[in-house]
Amino acid sequence: MLRKTTFILIAIAAILVTTITACLHEEKKQATGDATTVSKKQWLVPDTAELSNDDYGKLVKYGRALVVNTSYYFGPNGVIAHKSNGMNCQNCHLNAGTKAFGNNFSLTASGYPRFKERSGTVETVVTKVEDCFERSLNGSKIDSNSREMKAFVAYQQWIGRNVKKGTKPEGSGIEELAFLDRPADTTRGRVVYVAKCQTCHQKDGGGIPNATKTGYTYPPLWGNHSYNIGASIYRLSKFAGYVKSNMPFGADHMHEQLTNEQAWDVAAFVNSQPHPFKNTSADWPKITTKPYDCPFGPYADRQFSKTQRKYGPFGPIKKYYAELSKKNNKEARLIAK
Ligand code: HEC
Ligand code: HEC
Repeated sequence: MLRKTTFILIAIAAILVTTITACLHEEKKQATGDATTVSKKQWLVPDTAELSNDDYGKLVKYGRALVVNTSYYFGPNGVIAHKSNGMNCQNCHLNAGTKAFGNNFSLTASGYPRFKERSGTVETVVTKVEDCFERSLNGSKIDSNSREMKAFVAYQQWIGRNVKKGTKPEGSGIEELAFLDRPADTTRGRVVYVAKCQTCHQKDGGGIPNATKTGYTYPPLWGNHSYNIGASIYRLSKFAGYVKSNMPFGADHMHEQLTNEQAWDVAAFVNSQPHPFKNTSADWPKITTKPYDCPFGPYADRQFSKTQRKYGPFGPIKKYYAELSKKNNKEARLIAK
């Protein structure tokens, strides 16, 4: 009897020690400010059906509707205002921004406000929504005090509320693809496009409008009604990563239909086609922080051509800037001493 009790006590103590060690380890990781502690856990997306029909519940559900049917409210024939092209947020943030590797919103609530290098300012969820209106939807800002903006924000805060700051659930955002060791190839990309994309997005890249002309059944990929050159998806890594785990429509991360090469090449083809212009000269005020695949200057080096910035190979550019940043940090530390 006594032996059994001792055994149970020892077992409990062992479990406690393991748990405490694991927690301390987790805390240590977070204390380093590393926002990319990738968890193996999937994001448990809350279901809007659980919301009650009070004012708050209605606001969150309205936010979801705005993400899904943006064009109905704000497109060229929008019932609220004409602020955007005919695209919906959901075209790029699939399943209302909840799909694994579908450019989801798992990190939005926990990730903002934070400093962003592109604007050189502290951005909030409001700024991000405005950004996507001005760039991805090639339009203009909506009123930041409107019920609509409150709904966009409420939806973000609500669906992301279970994600702890500093952790990153599996499948967040967009898949990061391994680089090619050659430039992405627009000619090969065209072949992929014709075989795997054209039936829906059409030969001229203009997509197919829906029956009521309030938006698209198949959204445009280039041309006047598409995203502009300031949109993140105009960067090859974002386009290729998005497409790899989501296109042709119906694909997902567990059932991908393109090889890495096809994804990079089709990205090169689509983003070599005309897109609306956007003045991006104020982007990345600190030019050493410009991403390796930012297709417009000025750049902090003379080493890599504009073509390499747009089509790659990106490996050498990324390495160059990683080393530069290490060197700068070291110098900064020496100065601080
Ligand atoms: C043409 C594609 C596209 C459309 C349409 C689009 N977005 Fe985005 N959005 C992106 C990309 C790409 C990113 C950046 C993802 C990254 O950096 O990995 C992004 C980022 C965001 C983020 C920040 C996510 C985070 O956690 O950092 C928010 C919030 C957002 N979009 C909201 C919206 C809203 C709201 C709309 C509609 C008004 C919209 N987007 C329309 C492509 C799009
Ligand atoms: C079966 C039809 C279909 C095929 C084939 C298809 N797509 Fe799509 N695509 C869609 C639909 C539908 C959406 C919008 C999804 C949503 O709103 O839920 C979309 C959205 C997109 C978007 C983001 C929105 C935009 O317009 O910029 C990109 C980029 C994209 N597709 C690229 C591709 C590429 C590249 C291929 C070929 C490899 C491809 N698609 C094949 C139906 C298709």
